[in-house]
Amino acid sequence: MKQRIGFFDSGVGGLSLLPAVQNSLPHEDIIYIADHGFFPYGEKSKEAMLNRAKLLTEALIEQQCKLIVVACNTVTTQVIDILREQYNLPFIGIEPAIKPAALKTKTGVVGVLATKGTLKSERYHQSSLHHTTGIRIVEQIGEGLVNIVEENAVEDEATLALLSKLVMPMVSENIDTLVLGCTHYPFLTPSLKKVLPESVEILDNSNAVAQQIEKVLKKEELLSLDKSAGETQYFTTGDTLSWKNITFTPLPL
Ligand code: DGL
Repeated sequence: MKQRIGFFDSGVGGLSLLPAVQNSLPHEDIIYIADHGFFPYGEKSKEAMLNRAKLLTEALIEQQCKLIVVACNTVTTQVIDILREQYNLPFIGIEPAIKPAALKTKTGVVGVLATKGTLKSERYHQSSLHHTTGIRIVEQIGEGLVNIVEENAVEDEATLALLSKLVMPMVSENIDTLVLGCTHYPFLTPSLKKVLPESVEILDNSNAVAQQIEKVLKKEELLSLDKSAGETQYFTTGDTLSWKNITFTPLPL
């Protein structure tokens, strides 16, 4: 059996990272766990997140994973350092794209839309301070957005109204760059484009994560030697679920 790349998130959000990974690493087998049994992550304590992340990590190691992608900003910003200390395999995380945004902005004002857990984390604060000298960050908790993505209600009128309520105050603050700091949010990009002025660029880190996975697999000599097409399996810690065209099989944890 091929060793696999393991992904986990609170739900379907981490799927926003998969196309870039499947494209750049077509021979890799992937296992994705949507942790619907513990959804949502955004408001959970750091201790609760660490326990859950350890449980998921151990489940993925049992499934022959050689590298784990923490496909969630909330978990990455709160506990990835501890996971790296405690387990002997590489972890790749995702964090809000503050640095690219700071390099791009012309108005000097960057918006960040993320969960409460991410915005209050020490790691997020450190990286914002580090990359944003002379730049102003306007933060907004994406209250309600994760559920909308899970329900695949991204194009509803009510969703457009909620997005507008969340982002227009940032536009009034003169942002020209909006960072999507939660892996669920890229599924809202087409709707966000409808409500934002064209001058605002939307950024997320999914391509950077795919590049980082490839780099680490190469460096650790972990790339699949078997050149058959890679397969992706989808599990949920909740009930059987279909989301778009994907069926998730229950994996009770
Ligand atoms: N998709 C996750 C993130 O990137 C978690 C969202 C949630 O469950 O609140 O932060």
